Amino acid sequence: MLLSLLLTGTVPPSRGRSTGQPEDVDECAQGLDDCHTDALCQNTPTSYKCSCKPGYQGQGRQCEDIDECEDELNGGCVHDCLNIPGNYRCTCFDGFMLAHDGHNCLDVDECLENNGGCQHTCVNVMGSYECRCKEGFFLSDNQHTCIHRLEEGLSCMNKDHGCSHICKEAPKGSVACECRPGFELAKNQRDCILTCNHGNGGCQHSCEDTAEGPECSCHPQYKLHTDGRSCLEREDTALEVTENNATSVADGDKRVKRRLLMETCAVNNGGCDRTCKDTSTGVHCSCPVGFTLQLDGKTCKDIDECQIRNGGCDHFCKNTVGSFDCSCTKGFKLLTDEKSCQDVDECSLDRTCDHSCINHPGTFACACNKGYTLYGFTHCGDTNECSINNGGCQQVCANTVGSYECQCHPGYKLHWNKKDCVEVKGFLSTSVSPHVSLHCGKSGGGDRCFLRCHSGIHLSSGLQEAYSVTCGSSSPLRSKQQKSNDSAFGDVTTIRTSVTFKLNEGKCSLKKAELFPEGLRPALPEKHSSVKESFRYANLTCSPGKQVPAPPGRSSTPKEMFITVEFERETYQKEVTASCDLSCIVKRTEKRLRKAIRTLRKAAHREQFHLQLSGMDLDVTKKSPRTSEQQAESCGVGQGHTENQCGLCQPGEYSADGFKPCQLCALGTFQPEAGRTSCFPCGGGLPTKHLGATSFQDCETRVQCSPGHFYNTTTHRCIRCPAGTYQPEFGKNNCISCPGNTTTDFDGSTNITQCKNRRCGGELGDFTGYIESPNYPGNYPANTECTWTINPPPKRRILIVVPEIFLPIEDDCGDYLVMRKTSSSNSVTTYETCQTYERPIAFTSRSKKLWIQFKSNEGNSARGFQVPYVTYDEDYQELIEDIVRDGRLYASENHQEILKDKKLIKALFDVLAHPQNYFKYTAQESREMFPRSFIRLLRSKVSRFLRPYK
Ligand SMILES: *[C@@H]1O[C@H](CO)[C@@H](O)[C@H](O)[C@H]1NC(C)=O
Ligand SMILES: *[C@@H]1O[C@H](CO)[C@@H](O)[C@H](O)[C@H]1NC(C)=O
Ligand SMILES: *[C@@H]1O[C@H](CO)[C@@H](O)[C@H](O)[C@H]1NC(C)=O
Ligand SMILES: *[C@@H]1O[C@H](CO)[C@@H](O)[C@H](O)[C@H]1NC(C)=O
Ligand SMILES: *[C@@H]1O[C@H](CO)[C@@H](O)[C@H](O)[C@H]1NC(C)=O
Repeated sequence: MLLSLLLTGTVPPSRGRSTGQPEDVDECAQGLDDCHTDALCQNTPTSYKCSCKPGYQGQGRQCEDIDECEDELNGGCVHDCLNIPGNYRCTCFDGFMLAHDGHNCLDVDECLENNGGCQHTCVNVMGSYECRCKEGFFLSDNQHTCIHRLEEGLSCMNKDHGCSHICKEAPKGSVACECRPGFELAKNQRDCILTCNHGNGGCQHSCEDTAEGPECSCHPQYKLHTDGRSCLEREDTALEVTENNATSVADGDKRVKRRLLMETCAVNNGGCDRTCKDTSTGVHCSCPVGFTLQLDGKTCKDIDECQIRNGGCDHFCKNTVGSFDCSCTKGFKLLTDEKSCQDVDECSLDRTCDHSCINHPGTFACACNKGYTLYGFTHCGDTNECSINNGGCQQVCANTVGSYECQCHPGYKLHWNKKDCVEVKGFLSTSVSPHVSLHCGKSGGGDRCFLRCHSGIHLSSGLQEAYSVTCGSSSPLRSKQQKSNDSAFGDVTTIRTSVTFKLNEGKCSLKKAELFPEGLRPALPEKHSSVKESFRYANLTCSPGKQVPAPPGRSSTPKEMFITVEFERETYQKEVTASCDLSCIVKRTEKRLRKAIRTLRKAAHREQFHLQLSGMDLDVTKKSPRTSEQQAESCGVGQGHTENQCGLCQPGEYSADGFKPCQLCALGTFQPEAGRTSCFPCGGGLPTKHLGATSFQDCETRVQCSPGHFYNTTTHRCIRCPAGTYQPEFGKNNCISCPGNTTTDFDGSTNITQCKNRRCGGELGDFTGYIESPNYPGNYPANTECTWTINPPPKRRILIVVPEIFLPIEDDCGDYLVMRKTSSSNSVTTYETCQTYERPIAFTSRSKKLWIQFKSNEGNSARGFQVPYVTYDEDYQELIEDIVRDGRLYASENHQEILKDKKLIKALFDVLAHPQNYFKYTAQESREMFPRSFIRLLRSKVSRFLRPYK
């Protein structure tokens, strides 16, 4: 008792106040103590005590870390012991995991998860695992996938090449055997001898290489099992309790007894579960990081870190013995802090979407530009608008890439809604080439002018109070030559004129002109025109100006309004004559134009300025209604009255001209679009259920067609959609063409996902490249065949990563991917598969060149593959092979993520292809990109490569 008092450093009471009753000061709380930072301070009635925290030793004012690992028992750890301040940590070699006691290491059965990544059979062995292939196959170089073995083959493709691990073609048709990492080639040059470098030589605890192979031994507290590999706890050191049942009541009692009897580590390890230290206060049991000492002070129990705040993991937490692992949902990536999950920004990767990409947490979506349709998840193909209800065109529909246009039969012109056709009346049918022409002629007391638009009509909105109509196409030089009115380019001179008329009274109007009340007298005979000009482009704008302030006492406030017309005319070299050169022609033309504009101005003031669009005469302006004429107001063509305003007719309605309000489509017709001049007949004499039908589905067909079919109005039967088209809806009269260059495998398709591109994908670069199944990541088409050849530059070898491959297993190997030296089936094969394989695999090509073939049959389909490759300097051959043949690359979840992470693969390939690029990546960047365990794996390989003799 005295001893312990002295040792814990009791401070004499004289330091307290001596006046009257001694008043206690909590030195600990007030920070007046002089305990060591690694000590606990405990207040006493008159003073305080210091005692070192667990894991530290000393007198309280002085504490130092106990190095639990320093004793001959290695802290009780059977593999590695790591001392840390106040504690220690046991770790196991790759291929082992910590046992529940926190000290022993047990073999990991890699085969339990995903078959160890083995294509056929996985065999677990102490410290590692190995893949085996079924009869008739042999293991490929990557030691995980299998290759069909030929009866008759040359050298390595031969059934009995004799190499126990890896067979390499050698000159003169012979073979050279190689071994997997951690094995050495035997004297017979065929067999491979295990070393301690692979799976700890198959030893559970310690391994030592000898001439006869690895020799196993055990931690002092264990003894070697008769199998010569495993270690068993010795009777005398083993505690009666098994790991899991450490805290049962009976055992607890035994421990308490033991503690009372023998309080020294020399006897029965002081009763400690594992690490025992004799300290001044008696035995001190400790548990490694990840374990807690139970209340009995002796036993260690695994901490379930996931119970507290999910272990700090963003998404998932999985408890393991002595530790825990975080993981993320699909579409997220575990950051190198191994806790946080970050959304993978798929849009920042190359080739994610053909057009635009929208990243969402955990996923992404592709979208296509107008006029294109999404297929195969990420691709955009031109939409064939004409296949859907004829593009809405009244007469002819012509599809173009990214768009389409409606066309009209001879004798018709396209309405400016660009869909309907209007009959061309009178002289307009002449095939005059100019886009715009201006004609004025005497009529009544003055001039009347017509601006005729023949093509390139564009009408901007605001049909009532203001509008803008452009005709033809403006000269491409327009923007460059803005300051001068004229521009000369080669033998063409463009003349531009702009004129604005201000009318004091009236309003903009684009309505059918009531030109000749006496009847449809043909318009002006062209011969008598006083003005006759053609232009390549005209822009007519009408807009109301300010309200004219009304004089007091007058309510009528006429508006002023402005009409602006811009004309563009071209003068050609060919008009030049001997007496008049180009500039003379230009001058003459300009003079003529000035006269024309004077005439036009007069006509406009007389309201005799008309616009002819698609063969229909329209007023440019109208006098403000003085009286209550409003009732008779008419709307533009394709428009109708809605609540006293003009608006586009709704689907199911039409208006043949602007005078009549919108009308419902008659029985037997339908109109899916707004603003149209007519309705489409159902065809075949079919009636509709009601007026105002909006789609063919309202037509009363004799049978209802299911998706994948269309209704033929001649035969009144449902017909399967032909190959290259699909129809997802019931009761349609058409099938939709597949977008772009895609087609369907069969007829009767019901879904756009059945539209597939048949082009074999990929880009074959000298340094990096990729191959891709057709239509990837959509399902590949049936009966397709692709071949690629990778032919690297001299002194370079090929490294391939298959992140994942989807081929339907049900197909009996009908769809397959094979990589070999040449198209000959008995040439050296590097890789072949006909099944889905979601774990990534990396391998080097067995031949310098690679011939790759992908074939599918008419059976099931799947996503296929996107396989990147890189060519690297053959000087690195040994190092790269050492890495890709190491099972640890495939066994760890983290490492698999690397091979699936497109950004990481790109960075890795970038460095492999051009090693100087390594310096582009800072140490910080590579630490952030790669998990620590991956860097450790690489570092050990690279240092072994650089210093092969230790
Ligand atoms: C003790 O071990 C048995 C069998 O190993 C197990 O079923 C039981 O749950 C364990 N009890 C405790 C308290 O861990
Ligand atoms: C037509 O002219 C008006 C007024 O000058 C202008 O605002 C408009 O942008 C022009 N339109 C085109 C297509 O150039
Ligand atoms: C409908 O069937 C008739 C008769 O077999 C055929 O001539 C016509 O081309 C078919 N129509 C369509 C749109 O396939
Ligand atoms: C589609 O096919 C046409 C003609 O075969 C070709 O010119 C065009 O480039 C192809 N488009 C795409 C996106 O493959
Ligand atoms: C097409 O198929 C996909 C996947 O099978 C489905 O999600 C989608 O809804 C289908 N589309 C239509 C229009 O039926």
